[in-house]
Amino acid sequence: MRAARQGKPAAGGVALLVALAVWLLPAVARAQLRVGFYDTTCPNAEALVRQAVAAAFARDAGTAAGLIRLHFHDCFGCDASVLLTVNPGGGQTERDAAPNNPSLRGFDVIDAAKAAVEQSCPRTVSCADIVAFAARDSAALTGSVSYQVPAGRRDGHVSNASDTVDLPPPTSTAKELTDLFAAKNLSVEDMVVLSGAHTVGRSFCESFVDRVWNRSAKPPAAIVDAGLSSSYASLLRALCPSNTTRATPITTAMDPGTPNVLDNNYYKLLPRGMGLFFSDNQLRVDTAMAALVSSFAANETLWKEKFAAAMVKMGRIQVQTGTCGEVRLNCSVVNPSSSTIELGSSAPAADEDGGVATS
Ligand code: HEM
Ligand SMILES: *[C@@H]1O[C@H](CO)[C@@H](O)[C@H](O)[C@H]1NC(C)=O
Ligand SMILES: *[C@@H]1O[C@H](CO)[C@@H](O)[C@H](O)[C@H]1NC(C)=O
Ligand SMILES: *[C@@H]1O[C@H](CO)[C@@H](O)[C@H](O)[C@H]1NC(C)=O
Ligand SMILES: *[C@@H]1O[C@H](CO)[C@@H](O)[C@H](O)[C@H]1NC(C)=O
Ligand SMILES: *[C@@H]1O[C@H](CO)[C@@H](O)[C@H](O)[C@H]1NC(C)=O
Ligand SMILES: *[C@@H]1O[C@H](CO)[C@@H](O)[C@H](O)[C@H]1NC(C)=O
Repeated sequence: MRAARQGKPAAGGVALLVALAVWLLPAVARAQLRVGFYDTTCPNAEALVRQAVAAAFARDAGTAAGLIRLHFHDCFGCDASVLLTVNPGGGQTERDAAPNNPSLRGFDVIDAAKAAVEQSCPRTVSCADIVAFAARDSAALTGSVSYQVPAGRRDGHVSNASDTVDLPPPTSTAKELTDLFAAKNLSVEDMVVLSGAHTVGRSFCESFVDRVWNRSAKPPAAIVDAGLSSSYASLLRALCPSNTTRATPITTAMDPGTPNVLDNNYYKLLPRGMGLFFSDNQLRVDTAMAALVSSFAANETLWKEKFAAAMVKMGRIQVQTGTCGEVRLNCSVVNPSSSTIELGSSAPAADEDGGVATS
C-alpha cells in the first residue's frame, strides 16, 4: 500500500502479490489441523477425553495443572513424544529428562482417555490430539476458559531427551525466554500470556531452591534472590532443605491462594515478589514484558481471551499431519510395526497388518 502511494503502481502490485503469498503460506500450513477433525470418524472423541479429565480432576484437582503443562512440554513439537517410555532409537527419553521427571504428571489421565477412545473408535485418535484436548478441558475446569482445539495431529516415532533443551529452564533470563519461544514462532506476548498458567499447579523445591539458599557457601547460607519478597523467601527456605535434589518429594503451590483456579493471580503475585521462579520474576525486569504483566493483572478477561488463543497457537508447533507419523495405539510406546519399518518400504501397508514383531 505504501509503495502505491509513492507512485510506483508496478512495485505496489508486486508488493501486494508478495504480501498475498506470505499471507497464504501459513494459512495453507495451518489448514492441516482443523476443529472437528474427528466429527465423522470418532464423534465421541472429545467427550470421552473430557470425561476422563473430569474424573481425574474430581480425584485430584492438581491433574488439571499437570495436563496443561504436559501439553506445553509436548508441544515444543506437538507429537506426543513426551509420552513415550521407550525411545525406539535408544537412549534416554524426553519423559525421563530432567525438566520432565519427576515433575510432569497426568500420564495416567491420557492413558485412561486413550483407552476409552480406542474402545469407541480403534486406531483413530492420536495421543497428541488427546493431550491437546485434555489441556483445553483442564483450562475449562479450572478457569472456565473455553476454546476449540484444531485437531489432526499425528504421533511421532522419536523421543529424545536432548529435545528438552528447547524448553526454558526456571533459571532463564528474559532474553533466553524470548529466544526459546521465538524459536517456536511464539512472540514475547505469547510467552507472557502462557506464563500465566503458573497460576495453577505446583513446583518441586529443586526449581527454586537456589533463590533462597546459597549452596556454594559452606555451610549453605540463607539468601533472598532479587525480586523475591523476604517473607516469601523465608517460607520457601523453611519448606525446602538446602540439600534438596530433583528427587526431593516436597512441592509448593505456585499461586498459594488459589492453586487450582486459572485466574490472573500470577500477574498480581509478580509485583509482590511472589513469582516462584527466577524466570517468573524476569517478566517484571523487562520493560515490555512488565507492561503486559500489568495489563493482565488489571484485566482478567483480556488475559483469558489471549490465553485461549495462545494455547491454540502453541498447539500448532511442529505438528505432524496427514500421513506423517502414526496414530499410536498405546500412548507410551510407538506402534510395533513403525519401529522396524525400513525407510522406503510401504508404511501404510505395514500399518494395516500391524503384525510385524519387535523386540
Ligand atoms: C515461560 C517459561 C516457563 C518456565 C521457565 C517454566 C518453568 C516451570 C517449572 C520449573 C515448573 C515446576 C516444575 C517442578 O515441579 O519442578 C513449572 C510448572 C508448571 N508450568 Fe511452567 N514454565 C514456563 C512456561 C509454561 C507454559 C507456557 C505453560 C503452559 C501454558 C506452563 C504451565 C505450567 C504448569 C501448569 C505448571 C504446574 C504443573 C503441575 O502442577 O504439575 N509453564 N513450570
Ligand atoms: C538424540 O538427539 C541428539 C542430538 O540431536 C543426537 O545426537 C542423538 O543421536 C539422538 N539420539 C537418538 C537415540 O535418536
Ligand atoms: C516458524 O515459522 C517459519 C516461517 O513460517 C517456519 O519456517 C518454521 O518452521 C517455523 N518454526 C516452527 C518451530 O514452527
Ligand atoms: C555464595 O557463597 C559464596 C561462597 O561463600 C560466595 O562467594 C558467593 O558470593 C555467594 N553468592 C551469593 C549469591 O550470595
Ligand atoms: C538433608 O538435610 C536434612 C536436614 O535439613 C537431613 O535430615 C537429611 O538427612 C538430609 N538429606 C540428605 C540426603 O542429605
Ligand atoms: C478487558 O478486556 C476485555 C477483553 O479484551 C475488554 O472487552 C474490556 O473492555 C477490558 N476492560 C477494561 C476495564 O479495560
Ligand atoms: C502400554 O505400554 C506400556 C509400556 O509397554 C504397558 O506397561 C501398558 O500396559 C500398555 N497399555 C495398554 C493399555 O496396553
